[in-house]
Amino acid sequence: MKPFFQMALAGASILVAGMAQADTFAEIKINAGHELFNKECRRCHADDSDHESYGPPLENVIGRAAGSIEDYDYSVALEASGIVWTPAALRAWMEDNDGFMPGTKMRHVGIDDRTVQDFILAYLASITTRDGSAISE
Ligand code: HEC
Repeated sequence: MKPFFQMALAGASILVAGMAQADTFAEIKINAGHELFNKECRRCHADDSDHESYGPPLENVIGRAAGSIEDYDYSVALEASGIVWTPAALRAWMEDNDGFMPGTKMRHVGIDDRTVQDFILAYLASITTRDGSAISE
């Protein structure tokens, strides 16, 4: 009995360690994304809708219709684009926003490193709620 019990215990602790690690990787990605967001996006974008920013707030941006923050004064190009901010659209935007959407008033950012895009997307996902409700700080 004892060896089996010990094996089961060892198996369970490996499983638990594996799960903890998966969480940690997800957290590391989000934290890295947060830092990259601060470096590349924050000076123009708030990450919560309660704060004014030069660009539209990016809380709940994933799955949102482009140009849909009511009080924000978008360019005609963005407002009329009819696109939804999927992860793929956000990648194209980070990579070459003014090529992706000529006429946008967002200055070119040019993030073409997929890893950097991944991290920023992980952060944007972390500030996107399923039901679109605001994230309270
Ligand atoms: C120099 C200022 C500036 C920087 C830096 C910047 N943005 Fe923007 N962003 C804007 C402006 C201004 C708009 C509105 C564009 C328009 O109306 O055409 C915008 C619009 C957007 C939108 C469209 C949102 C919506 O409501 O439709 C997304 C998504 C976005 N930016 C993501 C980013 C991300 C991600 C970064 C960092 C990698 C970033 N931006 C960096 C100024 C900036």
